[in-house]
Amino acid sequence: MKAIAVLTSGGDSPGMNAAVRAVVRVGIASGLEVSCVHGGYSGLLAGDIRQMTHKDVSNLIQAGGSVIGCTRCQEMFEDYAPGAAANILKRRGIDGLVVIGGEGSYRGAIKISQHGIPVVGIPGTIDNDIPGTERTIGFDTACDTLVDCLGKLRDTAASHNRTFVVEAMGRNGGWLALYGGIAGGADVILIPEVPWTNEEVLTRLTARAASGKTFHLVVISEGAGRCTDLAGWLQAQTPDELEVRATIPGHIQRGGSPSTADRLFASRCGQRAVEALVGGRGGVMIGELDGKIAEVPLEKAIEGRRVIDKQLFELALALA
Ligand code: F6P
Repeated sequence: MKAIAVLTSGGDSPGMNAAVRAVVRVGIASGLEVSCVHGGYSGLLAGDIRQMTHKDVSNLIQAGGSVIGCTRCQEMFEDYAPGAAANILKRRGIDGLVVIGGEGSYRGAIKISQHGIPVVGIPGTIDNDIPGTERTIGFDTACDTLVDCLGKLRDTAASHNRTFVVEAMGRNGGWLALYGGIAGGADVILIPEVPWTNEEVLTRLTARAASGKTFHLVVISEGAGRCTDLAGWLQAQTPDELEVRATIPGHIQRGGSPSTADRLFASRCGQRAVEALVGGRGGVMIGELDGKIAEVPLEKAIEGRRVIDKQLFELALALA
């Protein structure tokens, strides 16, 4: 292997830049030419590939987002696209690719590798929903952001004796809502993995109010429902008892400087991705299993659904 490229794909997540930096620097230190593809798979199909130096990735470890751009590329799902992408890489003399992104990005990666370019995946998403790894780059930072939002909402909720219903990102998984909700001291946490009803939420809030609690924080994962719907319903049931507000932190959860944990994990993944390519072990995702960096076949990494930690959900109930 002489030359590799790296791209970021799907929704950006804090720490992606640290992973790009690690791939570039470890790659160069291993005697490889390393290029960045700008604009994810769309950039790859457009041939926007630029060779990098050690210095080109300076001042990146702390930067949020992805400096090389992320896209959700629908074109990559067209039959011709993976072959075309592989041919573009081959024409540029690139014989290995690192894809930093989520599940959708790996489907493209698997197809590119079937056209003769070994691909290694690095899990980059705030959703923490990739079955083959216990950690994804950006999740820790997104939890911190959600916790920060909850802390600020707690201040105003306590001042006005209000109920806030806060919508967390996470797509179809409740990881961000559950981790952020517990760490932020949420009183009710609603996630798609555990069935719930409006009436149950009302019962819990009414019981809290009866016990003297003057304000309430409800976290609802976007995959479990809309905060505006639940807030509206609760307000309609309790026009005199509760004063309900809905808040959507939205894409704020995707931004910001990565946490220490995300920077370290991203750097370790970048290093291991280069080692895997150099060692002829394409077709894997670098993840964390039992607290250790591991290589998981790409197909297996996206098989099934990542199961939520039920004990943690029970802890949330016990603490509320
Ligand atoms: O996958 C990351 C994520 O932020 C999800 O939590 C969210 O559902 C989605 O991306 C939002 O996507 P977009 O930025 O395309 O609106």
